[in-house]
Amino acid sequence: KVRRGRAWQADVGIIGGSGLYDLDGLRQVKEVSVRTPFGAPSDAVVLGELDGVRIAFLSRHGRGHTRSPSEINYRANVYALKSLGIRRLISVSAVGSMKESIKPGHVVFPDQFIDLTKQRESTFFEGGAVAHVAFGEPICPSLASHLSSAAHSVGATAHGGGTYVCIEGPQFSTKAESRLYRQWGVSVIGMTNLPEAKLAREAELCYATIALVTDYDCWHETEEPVTVEAILATLRQNVALAKRLLRASIPSAAAGGECACQRALREAIVTDPARIPA
Ligand code: ADE
Repeated sequence: KVRRGRAWQADVGIIGGSGLYDLDGLRQVKEVSVRTPFGAPSDAVVLGELDGVRIAFLSRHGRGHTRSPSEINYRANVYALKSLGIRRLISVSAVGSMKESIKPGHVVFPDQFIDLTKQRESTFFEGGAVAHVAFGEPICPSLASHLSSAAHSVGATAHGGGTYVCIEGPQFSTKAESRLYRQWGVSVIGMTNLPEAKLAREAELCYATIALVTDYDCWHETEEPVTVEAILATLRQNVALAKRLLRASIPSAAAGGECACQRALREAIVTDPARIPA
């Protein structure tokens, strides 16, 4: 059961990935340390108002980038944001490109995932409660379309749709793996979004990803293999774009009505309905 009762309620949650540790235009900012039954989130949640919308912002890796993708407590992160009242969750993440046409600096709004993670806690249901939520459409189409419209308005080169393959990391892929994923037709590769998307669905939150392309992974013949330095350099440029995109999208994203994501548990197969988190 999610404990509520805080005076401050947010409308939209944002999980910022590598390089995105704050937002432009956020006013009346305060920080809250949220405790959850699943442990501590990656950082304190920053609360504030952005163009009239109440925002809860959380740094995915912590503001000092201290947690690797396998070490992030995804359950605590999603739970903490849900407990602050959000109904929509926007994820901002660095990704590698698996297609020639998706270049570093571009933005992708994936609509599908492939899960290659191996050691993540990706469900809230355990210890006697089992729930099977529908996950055929893991991204909220309405939230993604608000983000996509905003991307065009801020001049981003954006790709709507595509598959995000989520690897365990923290190492990047081998060339054999990278070529295999290309044969699967995936668009982008990353290490964090899938547990978030699963947990957001169980928490009945609308979830969409802004995937910021930093590199061509290691499959690309004429590009240098991916290095952390190269990724961080492109990332810095992408972060400024992401901030503009977020600012342009938040008012319309927040204004959307209720959607099917927010009824996910009512339509799920649940073994013990008495234990559904509210
Ligand atoms: N994040 C950014 N670039 C990546 C890549 N090439 N593989 C996995 N995660 C990434």
